[in-house]
Amino acid sequence: MGAYEIKSLEQYFKVYKKSIREPRKFWSKIAEDFVWYKKWDQVLEHHLENAEVKWFVNGKLNITKNCIDRHLAKRGDKTAIIFEPNDPQEEAQHITYNQLYARVSKMANVLRDQGVKKGDRVCVYLPMIPELAITLLACARIGAVHSAVFAGFSSTALSTRIRDCEAKILITADGGFRGNKTIDLKGIVDEALEDCPDLEKVLVVKRTGADIDMKKGRDMWLQPLLDTALNESVAEVMDAEDPLFILYTSGSTGRPKGMLHTTAGYMIFTAYTFKNVFQYEEKDVYWCTADIGWVTGHSYILYGPLANGATTVMFEGVPSYPDYGRFWEVVDKHKVTQLYTAPTAIRALGKESTDWVTKYDLSSLKVLGSVGEPINEEAWHWYNSHVGDKKCPIVDTWWQTETGGIMISPIAFATPTKPTYATLPLPGVQPVLMDEKRNEIEKNQVVGNLCIRFPWPGMARTIWGDHRRYKETYFSAFPGKYFSGDGALRDEVGYYRITGRVDDVVIVSGHNLGTAPIEDAINEHPAVAESAIVGFPHEVKGNALLGYIILKETGETRNRENLTQEINQHISEHIGPIAKLDKLQFVNDLPKTRSGKIMRRILRKIASGDTDNLGDTSTLLNPDVISDIIEGAK
Ligand code: PRX
Repeated sequence: MGAYEIKSLEQYFKVYKKSIREPRKFWSKIAEDFVWYKKWDQVLEHHLENAEVKWFVNGKLNITKNCIDRHLAKRGDKTAIIFEPNDPQEEAQHITYNQLYARVSKMANVLRDQGVKKGDRVCVYLPMIPELAITLLACARIGAVHSAVFAGFSSTALSTRIRDCEAKILITADGGFRGNKTIDLKGIVDEALEDCPDLEKVLVVKRTGADIDMKKGRDMWLQPLLDTALNESVAEVMDAEDPLFILYTSGSTGRPKGMLHTTAGYMIFTAYTFKNVFQYEEKDVYWCTADIGWVTGHSYILYGPLANGATTVMFEGVPSYPDYGRFWEVVDKHKVTQLYTAPTAIRALGKESTDWVTKYDLSSLKVLGSVGEPINEEAWHWYNSHVGDKKCPIVDTWWQTETGGIMISPIAFATPTKPTYATLPLPGVQPVLMDEKRNEIEKNQVVGNLCIRFPWPGMARTIWGDHRRYKETYFSAFPGKYFSGDGALRDEVGYYRITGRVDDVVIVSGHNLGTAPIEDAINEHPAVAESAIVGFPHEVKGNALLGYIILKETGETRNRENLTQEINQHISEHIGPIAKLDKLQFVNDLPKTRSGKIMRRILRKIASGDTDNLGDTSTLLNPDVISDIIEGAK
């Protein structure tokens, strides 16, 4: 691959200009570098006002041909995936492209044998083991739509997602290792499936060797099926716009949104952005520490790197196990050249002694990446000095589940970096800042709503089963433009700084959490009358959650500490431990507008200690409640 590669700032500006003036020519030139069964008739058709976009119209391809088959001649024996287990004593696996082809083929054949067809949805609830990558690729091979659910989600969250996408089959494991914990994945699955009568089959990977229940007629161990499957497979012919996967993301209201990504545009966008942002070269070993259950893992552990014939590391564990040197040990052991992680991990490790870092040889590193939330200045400098030895550019990459790939980011070695700035839009990406009156903000240093005014190939095409919601959520606040839900400002040279969500989504440790589903979970507790969740700044997690809770007047006598624990338990069961509250305050009332809407804006300010600056509270139905809440917090 090589069209429009960027090696300098000058070249970036040239390429960027071209991509905006002639987007169709630009993307078709890049698309030429891929393997197609049939080329496209038209590069782009779109009506953004209706949230309708098609790229590479009538093109036919299979993404696994591009991620695996085409590399076999030249890179058959090159390592595609390095699997680094949770326990450092367990040996790492090096899976070559030839082996990946065989393993994906076997899995594809197993899925076909089980009756999975093109267009069927396959739910994947696996820990970070090679079978996760292999299963997703096998789905893509046969044209099934994968819907991966992060293996830290609860049974309720899992069953909601299975029902929403109407999956017929689920792939899971007997359990998962994470740090010093073993997670009972199969138990969670059994619970989830009590509410999913239409799910017919469960294939189980053996990972922990836990003693689990296998339901007759529904559950099967995967390994015996793989053992007898052929290690070659035909790749289904897919239309450019055929669905590739569904991935759920939190909304500010209602059910999670099943973002649907399609085949060609997603592939081309993730491949191009991967290559350029990280400046990946043939012998590099690239490591993204995310979980494949999130979009970062889909795009930048799996598809983007493999489309480039890269070596990509899959890490099962956590940064703190068996000790705080684990990340640096992995970098040293596999001679990692690009490291892509989240600010929350950097902050957590930055709190520990730098001896953990200096103990290892990190000289292989060339590029450092950050994703998931704004990186604060202190974390940026720590990353730059202690990990990168001030020699590695930090690419602070802004993007979303919805955008499919990186949108605003420095290009390593080309774009001068600036702490807390995601810097410049990548080629083909046209950001614009909008004020509340729907006017474009031309001035510098003014925070506005971050929108994108022209389609890009990697964008999600719809919300599974609910196109109207897709249009309303992303294309109606600023008609004709995609609205990201983030705020941002621009500096004098045109660099963007992301200031955070402008809606009721809170980013906790890089995880996107909608407040409404958490409130729903809390409100189901029998003692709770009403609740409001807001984010507040947290040293390590970026944001943490504070819940304001009104109890029912039932003469509740349980002690408040027990109640706090029970409420958090409730959240763990309904959503997952990541959504637990850091703080909880019992209140008698919540600030509301005259129409009865909770004023979260005010609660957010109180929670962040910004009480001198609460803004206009005169429209409140119950202004007195504010001083009570501030007093109560003391
Ligand atoms: O608020 C932005 C934040 O993460 C949100 C997207 O979350 P999700 O869909 O889970 O995808 C995360 C991984 C791409 C965005 O709306 N975000 C992501 N990257 C950055 C960021 N905020 C600031 N700077 C970033 N680099």
